[in-house]
Amino acid sequence: MSAQLLDGKAMSDELRQEIAARVAALKAKGVVPGLAVILVGEDPASQIYVRNKGIACEQTGVYSRTIRMPAESTQQQLEDEIRRLNADKRIHGILVQLPLPAHLDESAALAAVAPEKDVDGFHMINAGRLMNGQPGVTPCTPKGAMEMIRRTGADLRGKHAVVVGRSNIVGKPMAMLLLQADCTVTVCHSKTRNLADFTRDADILVAAAGRARFITADMVKPGAIVIDVGINRVDGKVVGDVDFDVVKEVAGWITPVPGGVGRMTITMLLKNTLEAAERAGC
Ligand code: GUN
Repeated sequence: MSAQLLDGKAMSDELRQEIAARVAALKAKGVVPGLAVILVGEDPASQIYVRNKGIACEQTGVYSRTIRMPAESTQQQLEDEIRRLNADKRIHGILVQLPLPAHLDESAALAAVAPEKDVDGFHMINAGRLMNGQPGVTPCTPKGAMEMIRRTGADLRGKHAVVVGRSNIVGKPMAMLLLQADCTVTVCHSKTRNLADFTRDADILVAAAGRARFITADMVKPGAIVIDVGINRVDGKVVGDVDFDVVKEVAGWITPVPGGVGRMTITMLLKNTLEAAERAGC
């Protein structure tokens, strides 16, 4: 392997220690940061995410509450629950676990979350703030990916960053963060022609398309920073969007899956919750 590993577990362990110390300092002032997760239905992957979030909160001293609602809940019931949490002084962060069952309106649910408690950074107000370069809550996965890129120590100014994927949750906010770091940013997606022409020119390549191992060695510039946001299941195994075993021989830096960006996502959720509690001050 020629690439250096960007180890999400090691970075997260270090960051979670810092977060735990800040949580303890806030508790000494009488404020216990609190996160509420709303889980509608029984989606197995969501159950695992939610459990991991609960464990991470416990590790760092963040109070966590999971609200489980039946799959057949109505939009009204979901939004009533969100509004109750908006008014709850013990809760500083609210996360509506996605995907929601198909009959529910995701955008309306996310819009019901108070922007200052929107620790996912999915509310229009926070998306707009990110777009305008104003302080707000940044979505956890791109925030974690950016932290990993910064930890390479590379000077990002003028670098060509290529993001493959244009979702509201990862691709678009990732592009904004890279732009703020003075990168030249290209966003590619499923309709991009000659994708490899773009990826091969990338100094920083972020793969967030949700296609197992589709970034191959010939698509990567030697020495590039390769960030793999994919979480795909193949034959019972979790693999990324990057064909790790071959790309690691070409890249300069690479994130593994699992143990890469996914771990950092939850760490950034803790950080966003802590920061929301620090801002609220009560
Ligand atoms: N489902 C999968 N990842 C996420 C996430 O980061 N936030 C929310 N709310 N739902 C998810």
